[in-house]
Amino acid sequence: MSFLDDFRTMSTFGATPGGGVERQAASAADGETRRWFGGWLAEQGFRVEVDAIGNIFGLLELVPGAPYVLVGSHLDSQPLAGRFDGAYGVLAGAHAARSVRDRAAAEGATPRFNVAVVDWFNEEGSRFKPSMMGSAVHIGRLPLETALATTDPRGVSVADALDAIGGRGEFTGLDVSAYAEIHVEQGRELEATGTTIGLVASTWTAQKLEVVVTGEQAHTGAAPMADRRDALFGAAKLIVAVRELIDGFEVEQLHTAVSEMYLDPNSPVALAREVRMLVDIRSPRQDLLETAVARLRTTIGSIAAEARVEIDIVDVVEWSSGPFLEAGVLLAGEEAARLGYSHRRSATVAGHDATNLKEVVPTVMLFVPSVDGISHNEREFTSDDDLLAGLDVLQSVLYRLCAGELETERTS
Ligand code: GLV
Ligand code: MN
Ligand code: MN
Repeated sequence: MSFLDDFRTMSTFGATPGGGVERQAASAADGETRRWFGGWLAEQGFRVEVDAIGNIFGLLELVPGAPYVLVGSHLDSQPLAGRFDGAYGVLAGAHAARSVRDRAAAEGATPRFNVAVVDWFNEEGSRFKPSMMGSAVHIGRLPLETALATTDPRGVSVADALDAIGGRGEFTGLDVSAYAEIHVEQGRELEATGTTIGLVASTWTAQKLEVVVTGEQAHTGAAPMADRRDALFGAAKLIVAVRELIDGFEVEQLHTAVSEMYLDPNSPVALAREVRMLVDIRSPRQDLLETAVARLRTTIGSIAAEARVEIDIVDVVEWSSGPFLEAGVLLAGEEAARLGYSHRRSATVAGHDATNLKEVVPTVMLFVPSVDGISHNEREFTSDDDLLAGLDVLQSVLYRLCAGELETERTS
């Protein structure tokens, strides 16, 4: 089957009426997609393995005993999401890995490294926080036990959710020499500049702050206004402050949002005693992000006083801004040019599993255009031509990684 046929089939799992998918981590739809993908890998001659946090690996051993070049992304999605975010990179990775095997056989070449595709568990972080969970466990940044004990808003743990879809395995010890990932851009730059391939050269930095606003439950009608300690009122002021934080910065130097909110008791006739919310702040520059967070902390103090509530930042998840390996950017640019595709350097604003992997192994990341930059929305779209162009470049890049070229660059 062609790549596009396979992608169409894959997009039927968890399909939504608006042309998107909904398959949050370890949901039934994620389970169906993972099973289909495992079956596809086995049919194509991959050895299928699953590790303790539910990452799925499809291995092609071309050189017995050698380390593996890993390529992939994630199959899980946001609620009511697009069908390209993550899933494209996993399927393109699988096709690219297969092409490395077939090309090496056709050319009678022996690669330096083996090749494996990966579906990282819970990249999205919508059902279970934080995002990029499977890759964080893989690189040792997040303890396995912490990840497995994480609960969704209904109190279901990652361990139980994975068990419900038969999603936990025992695979360990994959020796990874390099990582590659292709993803839709989720921005407008490629489209606006008429460019087909983005060479990801840097990542924005992010801080995700889990905030608890504590007030006091009271009667919405009867409690005198002066007595009220309304947690939702404090939360509302905080939402506005988070949005207005950007006013002190140059355009596009800071992105801010409050993305998630729960309130107790959420009753029509009671003031909220507690609100829990997630504040997401991002910048291309580490110093700007730190300035923004410091300002927000000061504002939080004033809001708490004005609204007569307590506001606590109970957890912070962050990743740093930083470059991708320059030799990888150049290698990918060479392949895009050789194959005749327009290309330019890109920065990723969204987090990706590559953001984690680049901390431990040489990593190459590619983008293809997103129409109107729409993402985390059913209307997310990338044209077939661009999907195929990305696959073309990924295959060539992967072949060179398996030949050990980036490794040579890195250690020379
Ligand atoms: C993950 O995808 C993120 O951008 O937080
Ligand atoms: Mn993604
Ligand atoms: Mn996403």
